[in-house]
Amino acid sequence: ATVTFVSHDGEKYEAALIEGQSLMQVAVNEAVPGIDGDCGGEAACGTCHVIVNPEWSELVGRSGPVEEEMLCMNPERQQTSRLSCQMRAREEWDGLTVQLPEFQM
Ligand code: FES
Repeated sequence: ATVTFVSHDGEKYEAALIEGQSLMQVAVNEAVPGIDGDCGGEAACGTCHVIVNPEWSELVGRSGPVEEEMLCMNPERQQTSRLSCQMRAREEWDGLTVQLPEFQM
């Protein structure tokens, strides 16, 4: 299964989706620029922000209350924004595409 990260300027980075890893880990493993994961996946830094393509948002789910606290401080926050460290990858997410917000370039 693969996931595609699309940077603000349209650059695409494909990464192998490993079930059970967080999407942040998947991105960091592939050195996707803009996903830093500074807090190590504690939902405390906001450097793993991704915007889920709307057609995927139902399957991957919406942000929870802890994520919201981080996300609501971000002016680039979109309706389908998530902290990728809080997204546990699943096999069914094969083909998932997420956008990276501009400030994370
Ligand atoms: Fe820090 Fe996700 S890695 S909030």
